[in-house]
Order: sequence, then C-alpha cells, then structure tokens
Amino acid sequence: MWCLVTLLSFLLLNGVSEAGRTSSYVREALPSLEIPKEDFPPPSGYNAPEQVHITQGDYIGRSMIVSWVTPLEDQPKFVTYWEANEKKSVETNGGIKRNRAHAITTTYRYYNYSSAYIHHATIKRLKYNTKYIYELGNGNGTRKFWFTTPPEVGPDVPYTFGIIGDLGQTQASNQTLEHYLACGKGQTMLFLGDFSYADVHPFHDNEKWDTFGRFIEKSSAYEPWIYVPGNHELDLAPEIGEHTLFKPYKHRYHVPFRASGSTSPLWYSIKRASTHIIVLSSYSAFSIYTPQYRWLKDELPKVNRTETPWLIVLMHSPMYNSNNYHFMEGETMRVVFEPWFVKYKVDLVFAGHVHSYERSERVSNIQYNITEGISSPVKDPSAPVYLTVGDGGNIEGIADSFIEHQPSYSAFREASFGHALLQIKNRTHAFYSWHRNQDNVPIAGDSIWFYNRYWFPKEETSSNA
Ligand SMILES: [Fe+2]
Repeated sequence: MWCLVTLLSFLLLNGVSEAGRTSSYVREALPSLEIPKEDFPPPSGYNAPEQVHITQGDYIGRSMIVSWVTPLEDQPKFVTYWEANEKKSVETNGGIKRNRAHAITTTYRYYNYSSAYIHHATIKRLKYNTKYIYELGNGNGTRKFWFTTPPEVGPDVPYTFGIIGDLGQTQASNQTLEHYLACGKGQTMLFLGDFSYADVHPFHDNEKWDTFGRFIEKSSAYEPWIYVPGNHELDLAPEIGEHTLFKPYKHRYHVPFRASGSTSPLWYSIKRASTHIIVLSSYSAFSIYTPQYRWLKDELPKVNRTETPWLIVLMHSPMYNSNNYHFMEGETMRVVFEPWFVKYKVDLVFAGHVHSYERSERVSNIQYNITEGISSPVKDPSAPVYLTVGDGGNIEGIADSFIEHQPSYSAFREASFGHALLQIKNRTHAFYSWHRNQDNVPIAGDSIWFYNRYWFPKEETSSNA
C-alpha cells in the first residue's frame, strides 16, 4: 500500500494535481497489538482510586470534574484539594486550606461484566491560572495528583491544546501518548473519540474500559481531556441484550453539558482561555428539529468573538476526508451543519475516525443543492480548515488507502500515527503542528500558522504547501 502512496505522491508533485500533498513518508510497520490487560494493573493500596481523569466542569473554566474508580464502595467519596502554592495559602489561611468536593457514584452492568464504583466530583469556584493539588482515597490507598486551571477567558490569552483521536490501547497508542507528553506543551487535551475499543472484543469486554482508564491516567489525571463521543462508544449489542447506546461511556466520562444548555452529554460546549469549543456527536440525530440541531442553532449565535476569538468544533466523523476508509461517512452532517460553520466563521474543525492524518484547505461546498448540482468544494475564506487526527494508533491499524488523485480540498495527508498541537498565541494567530510518532519531539510532520477567521481572515501558507 505504501507503494501506492509513494506513487501517488510522485504523480502529485509532478503536476498531475495542483491540490495538496500526499506525504511520501513511509511509516515503520508496527503491529497494532493491544497491550495485555496484565500490563495495566490497578494501583496498590486498600481500595486505591484508579482510572483518574479530569475535564472542565462548567462553561467558563472555573470548575473541574474529577472522576475515578474504586473496587469497593467504601468511603471516602470525595476529592480533597488545595492550592499548590502552600506558602501563599499558609499566609492567607494560617495553614493549608484543604477543601472537599463530594462525588456522585455510579455503577453499571454490561452483559456479564459488573463495573466497579465510578465516582464523579465537581470542584467549583476555582481560581483561574492556579495550580491545585488533589487527593483521592485514604490510608495506604491514598493517591495525589495536580492540575492547573486555565487563565480567565479573554481574547488574547495564549493557550495550547493537544489533539489525539482514536487512541485505543496498543503499543502504538502508548507511543502516541508518550510522544505527546514528552513535548510538554499541551495544557488541555482535545480527545476526538474512540476511546478503549472494548467493543471489538467478545461481548464488548468492558475490562478494556478499565485498562484504558489506567493507560491514559498519566495524562488525563493532570490535564483536562475534552471528550468527543465516537462510534466505538456506542456499545450497542442487542444480540447480548445491550440496547442502551453509549452506556459505558456515559457512566465513565462525565461532561458539563448542562452548563451550555445542552440536553445530552454527547454534545455541549465550553469556553476555555481564548477559545469557544463545540463538541458534536456524529452518532446522534442531527437533522432539523432534533435536540442536537436545535442546540447548535441556538449556541452558535452566542459565541462572542470579542471574548473568545477562536471558534473550534470537535466531532468524530470527518466532513472532509479523502481516505477510502470511512469515505463520505460525515457527508450528511456536512450537509446539515456546514452552512452554519461558514456563516459563523468557524476557525477549525477537528475530527478523528479515519486512522491517518489529513488537513484540508479552507473550502466549502455550501453552494451545492439538488437543483444547481454544483457539487465541488470551492475555496472559501470564511470556511474552517478540517483536520482529521484519527491516528492515535489502535487495534484496527493504520488507514493507508488514500483516494488516488488527491482532491483539491485536501492540503496534506499522511498515513502515520501521531498527535497534533494547537498553540494559540493571541486573537489573530495560532501555530498548529502535527507530529508523527517516529520523529523526535520537536519535529513537525505538518505545520501551519492559522489566522483567525473573525479578526484576521488572511489566507494561510503551510510548510507543506
Ligand atoms: Fe471511529
């Protein structure tokens, strides 16, 4: 397959297409084997908290949802937290002021699996831009972590997001996460869906949800992950009596959906630093009159670009994708939502699902309708760039079959595992880079300065143009 990619690249570079570029990089073949369950043991200690993950707990970044799992229902069902700057805290309060946030606890059954106790505590009224220590469990099972809250929402607040999709729990997944952590720049993870891949195992082996939680903890306990639901979170299996969509996902990963007026944890929005982030569900109804449609219709006019200049949309199934894998699966959502993305000048749309990397031009296909029949995307300075970062590295392997003759909407594409970084500098500029796993940390396989669509709608030039 790599021969095909190399040939395609040669053809493109020699003038067959003026579209984008297909990378000629030949990825080192690595097996997409899952890391055995026994390599993700639970932490030691009595009833020790495990699978710790955090996410933003409100609309504006002053709350944090802390989630963890314990094998027993024993107390404590709360998180203890305090400011990391102990000296300041001692001076202010005459001692380290420790606070508690109580958890709600849930369990679920899935076929022959019974979950352990899953706890979710929302820490509220945090200070901006402050490092906090938090502690879970007690006795010899006590575990300590930390996080830093974002700066107050504002137009020129620099902030860096990591972007990973379709992670799974293979050796390649671990390479992706380690590579991301080694760069040390990410402050919050935008996770584009397809978490554990438990559903590819017999009876959707839900122990794989547990091992996945242990696997990502080295990141997810210390920086918030903004979650997007993917198809591997559906867990629909009527053949074994499982009819409830997203059951394990909804029990394990809580999000602040009510804060943005959403009626479902599958779509919601947050403001963080200088961004307004909208999470959509590719696997929930989105046509006219549906709750997701109505929510997005109401949400987009609320975005205040003077307060949050960067408007970013996350979803699982890409709207623009020139890979044979999952080709045009996002087409129906594109037809429904793309006109709004252009109208409201969305800066960037991130998706996963396709296990490779692709960056689009700023294009739209909104002039297409059944009577005019003009069905080719055209350059559109008000349109977002569509980024497919579904290359976390999971059990299903790489999507190495790009459509021959790279379409004009596709700026750059490569079938390698990796992660991306979005470094927002101010209201006009953001530096974006994509990093394949095989490279040293500072090397970018693709990079571009993005210009804000509202404040500085200039055409961008990428390193791969
Ligand atoms: Fe997917």
